[in-house]
Amino acid sequence: MSSLDVPVLEDLPPLDGRRVLLRADFNVPVQDGRITDDLRIRAALPTITWLQGQGATVVACTHFGRPKGQPDPKYSVAPVRERLAELAPGVELMENLRFDPGETSNDPAFVDRLVDGFDAYVNDAFGASHREHASIVGPPRRLPSAAGRLLAKEVEVLGAMREHPTRPFVAVLGGSKVSDKLKVIQALLEVADEVLIGGGMCFTFLKALGHPVGSSLCEDDQVATCTALLDSGAAIRLPSDVTALGPGGKIGDPAAGGDVRQMGTRIPDGWMGLDIGPGSSADFSDRVLDARTVFWNGPMGVFEDPRFEAGTRAVAQAMAEAHGFTIVGGGDSAAALDQFGLAREIDHVSTGGGASLELLELGDLPGLAALRGAPNA
Ligand code: 3PG
Ligand code: MG
Repeated sequence: MSSLDVPVLEDLPPLDGRRVLLRADFNVPVQDGRITDDLRIRAALPTITWLQGQGATVVACTHFGRPKGQPDPKYSVAPVRERLAELAPGVELMENLRFDPGETSNDPAFVDRLVDGFDAYVNDAFGASHREHASIVGPPRRLPSAAGRLLAKEVEVLGAMREHPTRPFVAVLGGSKVSDKLKVIQALLEVADEVLIGGGMCFTFLKALGHPVGSSLCEDDQVATCTALLDSGAAIRLPSDVTALGPGGKIGDPAAGGDVRQMGTRIPDGWMGLDIGPGSSADFSDRVLDARTVFWNGPMGVFEDPRFEAGTRAVAQAMAEAHGFTIVGGGDSAAALDQFGLAREIDHVSTGGGASLELLELGDLPGLAALRGAPNA
C-alpha cells in the first residue's frame, strides 16, 4: 500500500499469462493529426514495462478529447496507437472510451463490457482520476486493482507538498478565471507561505483593491470574494506592474496595431492588461528562487503572443534555476515550459492539470477512492 492507502502494482496477484486492463491518460495534444507532446504516453512506460516483465498482456484504454458519446473520426486514438506501438511494442490500445456514452455517465453495463476477459486492472491515468467516469471508478469494484507507477508518483509528490512541504513554500498561480481557481487558492493559502497571483485572474484582485482595470479580464461577480480574501490578511502577492495592449490592438496579431506599454496597476479605459510587468516578473522570480518548495499552475500572461510572454517566461526560468523542489501542475504551464525548452529543469511536471488542483484542494480523488475499495486492497 502507498501513503494514500491505495494498492500498488506489487499488491496485484501473480500476472504471468494474465490480461491486464491499463487505464491511461493518453489525452495528448495533437495538431494536424500529429502528436505535439507525447509526455503522457512516455509517462506510462514504467508501469507498462513492469507489467510486461511480470508476463502480463497489457491492453490500454484512454479517453481522447471530448467526443459526444458516439464514434467521431476527429477523436480517433489512431495517432496515439501509432506512437504507443513505437514506445511500447505489444501493448494494444482500445478505441476512445468516450465514444460510448457509458464512460462519462459511469454506466455499470459499460464497466462490465470493459472488464470482460481481464484478470486485473491498473489505473495510471492521473490526469483523469478526478473524473467519476466508468473506466476510472468501475473496474476496481470487479477486479484486483492497483495504482500504476505514474499515479503513485503524482500522488506521492503532490501529497507530500500538501502535507509537509519544505519551507518556505511559494505557490504561483495564473490562468484566466478566478472562479475556477478560488478553491485551490484557498487550499494553498492553508499550506503555502505565500501565494503569488498573475495571469488574467489578477485583474479581479486588482479591482478588489479599487484599481481601474480598463478592458482587462475581470469577473465582477468575484470581486467581493477577492476583497474578503485580501481583507482577511491572506498571504497573497499581486503584481505591481503589468504589460498592457492599447485600443485597436488584437491578441495574437501584432499587425493589427495597438500600443504595448508597461504600466502600474491602474489600467486606463480601453487598455487590456495581458501580462505581469517586468517589475513583477523580477519580484516573482526572486520569490521563486528563495523558496525551498515551489508549485506553479497557470501562465502569467497570454504567452502564446510573444508580446505577452515575458512574465510567464520569467517564472519558468526562475523555476528552472531554483534550488528548491519545483512542481508544475500540468496544462498550460507545462505547455509554456515546453515552449521555452525548460521542462527538463523542473523536478516534477505533473501530467494532470485539473487532477493536480483537485488533489491539492480535497486531498483525494475519485480514482484513488475507487482503488481503496478493490478486492485486493
Ligand atoms: C486533461 O487533459 O485535462 C485530462 O485528460 C482530462 O480530460 P477532461 O478534462 O476532458 O476530462
Ligand atoms: Mg530545482
